[in-house]
Amino acid sequence: MTFPADFVWGAAAASYQIEGAAAEDGKGPSVWDMMCRKDGAVWEGQTGDVACDHYHRAAEDVALMKEIGLKGYRLSISWPRVMPEGVGAVNRKGLDFYNRLIDDLLAAGVEPWVTLFHWDYPYALYCRGGWLNPASPDWFAEYTQVVVEALSDRVTHWMTLNEPQCFVGLGHQTGRHAPGDRLGFTEVLRAAHHALLAHGRAVQTIREHAKAAPIVGYAPVGQTRVPATDDPADIEAARRSMFSVEQRDCWNDTWFMDPVLLGRFPEDGLALFGDAVPTITDDDLATMCQPLDFLGVNIYSAQRIRAGRDGAPERVPHPVGHPMTAFKWFVVPEILYWGPRFFHERYDLPIVVTENGISCTDWIALDGRVHDPQRIDYVRRHLLNLERAIDDGVPVRGYFLWSIMDNFEWAEGVKERFGIIYVDYPTQERVLKDSAHWYRDVIATNGARLHKD
Ligand code: FCB
Repeated sequence: MTFPADFVWGAAAASYQIEGAAAEDGKGPSVWDMMCRKDGAVWEGQTGDVACDHYHRAAEDVALMKEIGLKGYRLSISWPRVMPEGVGAVNRKGLDFYNRLIDDLLAAGVEPWVTLFHWDYPYALYCRGGWLNPASPDWFAEYTQVVVEALSDRVTHWMTLNEPQCFVGLGHQTGRHAPGDRLGFTEVLRAAHHALLAHGRAVQTIREHAKAAPIVGYAPVGQTRVPATDDPADIEAARRSMFSVEQRDCWNDTWFMDPVLLGRFPEDGLALFGDAVPTITDDDLATMCQPLDFLGVNIYSAQRIRAGRDGAPERVPHPVGHPMTAFKWFVVPEILYWGPRFFHERYDLPIVVTENGISCTDWIALDGRVHDPQRIDYVRRHLLNLERAIDDGVPVRGYFLWSIMDNFEWAEGVKERFGIIYVDYPTQERVLKDSAHWYRDVIATNGARLHKD
C-alpha cells in the first residue's frame, strides 16, 4: 500500500467562493464584495452575494462530504464575517456559523483543515491602507486570536495564508483580483512584506492560544517546473528554475517561501527587485520564519524546462495541441511528482497538496447525471504521480481536491466549474458528478482504485 493509512483524502473550498450571505447576520463587507461591484471586474458582472448559498446549506453540504467519504475538508474563515471592521468587535453570529460547521464536520468524520485567510480581506481595513499599512500584521494576529480561541478546542489543522502570490500580485500589481489595485512594485513588495509578517504573527498566535495541540502550515502557490526529460541535467535545470526569481512580479516560489521556511530572502530576488525591496530587519525575518508542521502547496499546472547551454534553465513549449482545461491551463500531471519532491528537498517539511483540480464544461445530462470523465482522468493522472513521489520517499500527508463543489471562481465568476459536486445556481440543487462517485471509491480503497480502469 503506497498511500499511508492516515493519508488525508480531502477536498477544499473558500469562504467567499461558496458562502454567499454577503451582508447577512452582521457580516462586514470584504474587498471581494467591493471588487464585484466594480464595472467589468468580474465576468458577466457576477458576484459572490449568493454563490453556493453554503451559509444556509452547510449541513446539507457536510452530508454530501460524508457520502463521498472525505477524510478532510479544507475551508476558510471569512475575516469580515467574524470581525466586520477587521479588528475590534466580534460578530457572534459569524463565529456561530463556523462553530456549527466544525461540529457538523466532526460528527460526519471529516477533519476540518482551516485556512485563516483566503482573500476576503475586510473592506474596513482596506480603507485604512490594507496590506500596505504596517499595522496589518497586528490586525491579522488579532483576528487569528479570535478564531483560535473560538475553534481550537476542536480544530487542530491550521493554515495561515492562501496563495500570497495571488492576493498580493493579482490584487495589488495587475489589479485582476481584489482589491483591484495597480501599484508600483515598491508598494507591491511592501504589501508582500506585511503579508509575510502576518503569516509569522498568525503562527505565533496559533501556538500561543490553541487549546488542542495545533498542526500548522502555510498554503502558497506551489509554482512548479517539470523537467522536459529524466536526464539529470534537465532535472537540475527544472529545480533551478523553480527556485529562481525571474521576473519583477509575484510569480515565484522563493520570495514567498524562503523567508518563511529558511529565514532569508532569495539573493536573486533581492538583486532583481533592487530599490523596490523594503527594509528587511533581522526581527522581520525572525517573525516570518516560524516553525511549521507542514508545507501546503496549491499546484495546478507547470512549465517544462530543459538544460540549455551551461545547464541554464530553458523553457520548452508544450507540444502543439497539448491538453488544456476549460480555463486553458495546460494539463501536466507530473507536477504532483516533481512539485512535492522539489519542495520537500528544499524545505524539508512534510508536504500537503492543499489544492489541485480542473475546471470543465460540466452540465446535467439528459440522464440526470453529470459526466465529467476529464476530471476523473485529470485527478487520476495527478494522484498516480503523487503516489510515485510517496514511493520515492517524499512525505506527502494529504491531497485536497479543488473543489468540493462548483463555486464563484473570482474574476471568472461561476463560469469555471471546478467542483466534484455540480451546483445548479438558480435552484441551488447539488448533484454529485461522476468524479465524486469515483473519488469516493478512491478514498474507500485508499488509492487502490487509481490502478483500475
Ligand atoms: C487557486 C485559488 C482557489 C481557486 C483555484 C482554482 O488559485 O486558491 O481559490 O480559485 O485557484
